Amino acid sequence: MKSLKKEIANTISKQVELDIAEIERLIEIPPNSDLGDYAFPCFQLSKAFRKAPNIIAAEMAEKLEKPLIIDKIISAGGYVNFFVNKGNFASAVLKGIAKEGAGYGRSDIGNGKTVLIDYCATNIAKPFHIGHLPTTVIGDSLNRIYKFLGYECVGINHIGDWGTQFGKLIVAYKKWGNKEEIEKNPIKELVKIYVRFHDEAEDDESLNDEGRAAFKAIENGDSEYVQLWKWFREVSIAEFKRVLKVLNVEFDSWDGESFFTDKMEPVIEELRNKKLLQESQGAQIVDLTQFDMPPCLILRSDGATLYATRDLAAILYRKEKYDFHKVLYCVATQQNLHFRQIFKVVDLMGYEWANNLVHVANGMISLETGAMGTRKGTVVYLDDVLNESVSKAMEKIEEKNPKLEGKEVVAKIVGIGAVKFSALKNKRMKDSVFVWDKVLNFEGETSCYIQYTHARICSVLEKTDFSKELDIEYELLTDDKSYEVIKTLALFPQVIIDAAEEYEPSDISKYLIDLVQSFNKFYHENHVLSSEGKLRDSRIELCKAVKIVISTGMGLLGIECPEKM
Ligand code: ARG
Repeated sequence: MKSLKKEIANTISKQVELDIAEIERLIEIPPNSDLGDYAFPCFQLSKAFRKAPNIIAAEMAEKLEKPLIIDKIISAGGYVNFFVNKGNFASAVLKGIAKEGAGYGRSDIGNGKTVLIDYCATNIAKPFHIGHLPTTVIGDSLNRIYKFLGYECVGINHIGDWGTQFGKLIVAYKKWGNKEEIEKNPIKELVKIYVRFHDEAEDDESLNDEGRAAFKAIENGDSEYVQLWKWFREVSIAEFKRVLKVLNVEFDSWDGESFFTDKMEPVIEELRNKKLLQESQGAQIVDLTQFDMPPCLILRSDGATLYATRDLAAILYRKEKYDFHKVLYCVATQQNLHFRQIFKVVDLMGYEWANNLVHVANGMISLETGAMGTRKGTVVYLDDVLNESVSKAMEKIEEKNPKLEGKEVVAKIVGIGAVKFSALKNKRMKDSVFVWDKVLNFEGETSCYIQYTHARICSVLEKTDFSKELDIEYELLTDDKSYEVIKTLALFPQVIIDAAEEYEPSDISKYLIDLVQSFNKFYHENHVLSSEGKLRDSRIELCKAVKIVISTGMGLLGIECPEKM
């Protein structure tokens, strides 16, 4: 069952030569329900049909074939008005959900297409901080959404594990590093010596030269330095994996920047052969003035490659390896220019699939205390935020439901879900401020509110007798509140498609908030367990459908819903 508007647009499209999407856009909701539930204005057809709108409307109303979910179609002035058969509509929607269960909304539109999703991409020896939250959860959610739509998905963690900073880190380690401490607390210790390096380098420029030389040594394969670099990389990755596990975020590939060090030469060659490389002050660049962009730097004057060079190598490698339909780069808006530049370079190289490279940009998260910076020591580790959220969730549970079984597990699901949802609920480009009271609230527009509604439905269902088949009469679900819930349920499949097309998991978050709000109004007004017979059974059926959609929707956001909380 499609949404009502879609069904009606579909019916109309059989009569008028207009695109379904256009018809859908034109359909209005009449101000007064005596005029029907939906109305299609015929004014814009008048010219093409060479008839007055009211005549067109009258003829259309006469000719249109009525689908089961429509009771009557009449014309009024220049409008065609549609009256929904709410009972049939409820039946179509709820039967569909009952039949498909957790697969409701699934599709095969992506079959045979591979989508690569590049997200998280933290940097070795640097904190996995709250700023990485959006890229990580948005990427993970898009991964889940695209899979649900039938695409083959490859999640890639393009970690930052190459560059001069590793030379500096080695110098810092040799001066002040402590192996045991690093083993115990890798990132925090490595950050400490890295920050110290920068502080001391302010007064002693020679340190930077030493750093550069050390990186050269890594590049040249100096075994001691390579060993150290590998070790920093290993301990950092182990730490990232630990946090990712808490977040329930996984990757298919960890090919980071260093993976591409030996794959850049051919790309540089190709750029040269295609006459795209130019020399500028000793460096090799691709000039982009014509496109209103600064040049894309490919080789520095000392011959070193750059972030962009490695990304270009990665693009060509990925095309070859996966023959992707699209690559989604879930990376903060600060890198807008970088992606515009490298996508343009790929385009200039003559690859027409350059427009299948998408920068799925996200805004910044800040804390109430203000912006943060690794060097200033004001960085907020994501791990600390997750732990704090879980303990705050635990406090809430102790307050609301102290006898709850498996409290620890529930507190984890609720606490972690709350942090994830905070980065999934607004349009991805929007900057946001992380405020505890807003994130962990059982009433506002939060994941706790959605999870709480889900648990409430589970407790209703738990009190029903599953061995008996329900005796449902869909006609009993036509009151305003039930109708509102059913209309919302019918929208779900399209919401998933829209979220994928716009790369906007927040569409699903917003939808889920709407769904639970309409459900809670229904639940407030209609007794479920205390009503009787067919009415009780029909309402139970509605509850079951809502539970399914909440849990599938939250699953697409990468958030679990406990049965009790
Ligand atoms: N490591 C980079 C950073 O922290 C992000 C990498 C994003 N992915 C990519 N293919 N460029 O800024």
